[in-house]
Amino acid sequence: MKTVRSVRTMVAFAATIVLSTAMAVAVANSASAASTLGAAAAESGRYFGAATNSFMLNRQPHATVLNREFNSIVAENEMKWYHTEPNQNQFNFTAGDQLIAHARARGMTVRGHTLVWHSQQPQWARNMSGTALRNAMINHINRVAGHWRGQIHSWDVVNEAFADGGSGARRDSNLQRTGNDWIEVAFRTARAADPNAKLCYNDYNTDGINAKSTAIYNMVRDFKSRGVPIDCVGLQSHLGTSLDPTYQQNIQRFADLGVDVQITELDILQGSNQANMYGQVTRACLAVARCTGITVWGVLDPDSWRTGANPLLFDGNGNKKPAYDAVLNALNAGGNPTPPTSAPPATTAPPATTAPPATTAPPATTPPPPGGGCSATVSMNSWNGGFVATVRVTAGPASINGWRVRLTVPSGASVTNAWNADRSGNTGAVDFTNVSYNGQVGAGQSTEFGFQASGNGSIPTPGCTAS
Ligand code: XIL
Repeated sequence: MKTVRSVRTMVAFAATIVLSTAMAVAVANSASAASTLGAAAAESGRYFGAATNSFMLNRQPHATVLNREFNSIVAENEMKWYHTEPNQNQFNFTAGDQLIAHARARGMTVRGHTLVWHSQQPQWARNMSGTALRNAMINHINRVAGHWRGQIHSWDVVNEAFADGGSGARRDSNLQRTGNDWIEVAFRTARAADPNAKLCYNDYNTDGINAKSTAIYNMVRDFKSRGVPIDCVGLQSHLGTSLDPTYQQNIQRFADLGVDVQITELDILQGSNQANMYGQVTRACLAVARCTGITVWGVLDPDSWRTGANPLLFDGNGNKKPAYDAVLNALNAGGNPTPPTSAPPATTAPPATTAPPATTAPPATTPPPPGGGCSATVSMNSWNGGFVATVRVTAGPASINGWRVRLTVPSGASVTNAWNADRSGNTGAVDFTNVSYNGQVGAGQSTEFGFQASGNGSIPTPGCTAS
């Protein structure tokens, strides 16, 4: 009897466990139906963000909706080049600082948009070209990413660098004309300036498998194979009335290259398909583990940059639209969890936080050895742990058809990239020779090339040989 009773007791006990477990699961499930976009996205390890502006942070009903629904923000305009560096080397971080403070106080993450872009440049940069523009770009990235170092979840390092249409070519711009390597230089510079931010390439008309997204795919694959630091691809997703059937497949192929994908500027033309498309986009992202977040390009319809399109999730009174319900339901239906947050991306030694070592060897004061027809001078733009050098090559009293500059990189320093010159080696004595378009220099005239390096120190006046 005792046995029977104890078995019965055990059965009853076991049943109780099963029942209570089932109830707990049911409770957990209903509790997991989060009631805001940010909380619902967070259940699978994602963020749901919105673009905003510092001057809107206290404006109603924008403020209430922003603070309630989103767990990530991005500056719609206030971190762009024209805003952060209105005059060369004169920086304005006020609005960006406000946005970051607002986000941090509420546990939101911040996307950085955008370090370099052909559009919305300050006038002074639009007027620039060649080495001067290249150096200005590098300086801009160092100063802006450096200022917000450690506070940006993901940076759109480069925005919209590929042409539309079927060519798969780069878009022509003043930046592109500084040399095809401008994008990788931007990414390497950003990595050194903020080693913990994820570094993204961001573009539009990439909402499916097409010539433009394939060109970007090939660039990312190339960067990965050569160790150029890139962590994510942003798909802007400014959409019309139907979704490309390869939308998810496109996200997946980028993820398969080993980068995260983020939907960065989502807005969809209002019409009979709007809510459905918002649901489709959300589900596509959730289906891919490495699609880690979605940002809508604004909060309230009347504030959208697409005037009259009403492409967002809330109307002007802050009411939720059917599109909102479609997104929330899709988020609550769950998806592939994002991979555990990886260790900070591998970096090439982050800039030292201590002051750069005092320079011992002062630059040689003796004139450079006679080089046969040309001379070279170096100017440096240094920060802790790195520098950009601009080298000016000047022809002697006769014109020259080519040149080679041999300079000594400070000990411990290493050249990471060069422009407007071919280079041999990256440490110690490094030779730079002219490229096809800058070998001919008229008598007494000059041309410039540049390079970036990690490390500290100064460069003695280099030797120059004409050919
Ligand atoms: C837009 C802003 O929304 C507007 O306020 C501004 O006048 C122009 O830029 N792609 C981008 C965004 O990467 O920076 C753009 O933002 C929209 C298109």
